[in-house]
Amino acid sequence: MDITLTGITRDNFYEVIELELEKAQEKHLPSNVFSIAESTLSETFFPRAICLGDQVVGFLMYQFGEIGDFDEGECTIWRFMIDRNHQNTGVGKAVMPLLIDEIKAHDRCRLIEIYYDPKNLAAKKLYTRFGFKPVGEREDGDVIAELDV
Ligand SMILES: CC(C)(COP(=O)(O)OP(=O)(O)OC[C@H]1O[C@@H](n2cnc3c(N)ncnc32)[C@H](O)[C@@H]1OP(=O)(O)O)[C@@H](O)C(=O)NCCC(=O)NCCS
Repeated sequence: MDITLTGITRDNFYEVIELELEKAQEKHLPSNVFSIAESTLSETFFPRAICLGDQVVGFLMYQFGEIGDFDEGECTIWRFMIDRNHQNTGVGKAVMPLLIDEIKAHDRCRLIEIYYDPKNLAAKKLYTRFGFKPVGEREDGDVIAELDV
């Protein structure tokens, strides 16, 4: 599968913000336009387009803990979505190793953290497959899962 991760640029911005989820999935994350706006608040955010060949098929965003802060050394994957027309076709599984390698290449963290709704089976399967282990629960009931890197 010809999957790559790229930055958000004037060439792919409209494709990224037009990606769609199923209605029932929209509760899992805010819109991509919101995330891209949020990413401008701090240089610790990394919003990325997921491309299949030349086509944008997904979006994700991660953030490193602030240096000197309680979460220094941690990276949180805040957003991970695949367009509804490309879900369950292996894109998530193809992206995950690229994402983990990219995060490691920053050399800024010792663990990667991700949160998911325990009822979100696709997310649970995907993260578990790549070694994320549940370590707790957030106030909203989402599972906290971590991967040492
Ligand atoms: C979660 C998500 C990113 C997974 O990406 P994907 O490209 O669809 O996943 P893949 O096709 O690579 O499949 C990954 C695993 O999930 C399973 N899966 C995918 N879609 C599924 C579904 N609708 N129901 C149950 N399992 C599903 C696959 O069978 C596979 O399991 P396996 O490891 O046993 O083979 C994607 O479904 C998505 O964007 N969901 C909506 C947004 C969301 O919930 N994001 C996560 C927020 S934490």
